[in-house]
Amino acid sequence: MAGRSEAQHQPVSITVFIDDAQEPLATYKPPAVVTLDTTQLDDGEHMLRIHAVDAVGHVGVRSVPFIVSNGPGITVNGLRPGSRVRGTLEINVNAFGSEEPFDPVRAESEGPIPVWTWVFFAIVALWATWYGLEYFATPEAFANTPTYAANPALAKANAPATNAPPATTAPVAPGAPGAKNVAAFDYSSLGAQTYAANCQSCHGATGSGIPGTFPPLAADPIVNGADGDAHVKIVLKGLSGKTIAGTHYSAQMPAFSQLTDAQIAAVIDHERTSWGNHGPLVTPDTVKKDR
Ligand code: HEC
Repeated sequence: MAGRSEAQHQPVSITVFIDDAQEPLATYKPPAVVTLDTTQLDDGEHMLRIHAVDAVGHVGVRSVPFIVSNGPGITVNGLRPGSRVRGTLEINVNAFGSEEPFDPVRAESEGPIPVWTWVFFAIVALWATWYGLEYFATPEAFANTPTYAANPALAKANAPATNAPPATTAPVAPGAPGAKNVAAFDYSSLGAQTYAANCQSCHGATGSGIPGTFPPLAADPIVNGADGDAHVKIVLKGLSGKTIAGTHYSAQMPAFSQLTDAQIAAVIDHERTSWGNHGPLVTPDTVKKDR
């Protein structure tokens, strides 16, 4: 019995229809290879319907929707489905062959550059400009540090006014005509120069220091003191842990023994004659003795 009924349900024919056609495309014995020539169909949506009939006449149905696309592909830019429009529109339309391998240039319609692209670009450009300006501007607090003072133009602008007129900057040989009133040791230009290069970053162009961090040299007792050796030794050996005029400085004064005797004497004399100071001068010999 079971064998018989199984034989009855065995499909005996397959009929293939396209869309709503009453006439079948073809009828086959299962299993079958159906040849479908899509060039005979219009481009667009279609339905493949398959009817299978068994020995006792039961019909099985299976439908497969599909889309035929033999003509050129079309892209549209500037009009979205369902969009609400008015006035005149410009719509970019392009077509590309269905046989061609995908080519992004041919398969796309040109679109205008979106507004946000320009906005983003403008933000980046503004930020870059701001950054450039910040980068090249010297912060006021650092204007006298060696990094910025190393720029000759800046250093000149920041250099403390020296007491001596510029004419005396060239050392005059003792005994030469006009040398009568010139001191044996001419510290004026060397002193200002040495100060700008080595001391100014902490003690300031005008000897005012940085309150609480680096002591002022203007009106400082060591700088104005009669004892030149004490001043020389601080510059030669450095200083730390000293409370000056009631302020404890946690920073250290570095040693400057790498400077020459003349440079140290000159910078000390520069300090002793600048910003209202009036300490007795020292000479390179004093420095040589104190080393
Ligand atoms: C890195 C920063 C720095 C530099 C550069 C520097 N000093 Fe000082 N200087 C200090 C500090 C900090 C003190 C105070 C140290 C203390 O109180 O222990 C000081 C103290 C002094 C004092 C002693 C003041 C007193 O009353 O005892 C003199 C003088 C002095 N410096 C001169 C110079 C000279 C000259 C130069 C350049 C050759 C120079 N300093 C460079 C930081 C510096």
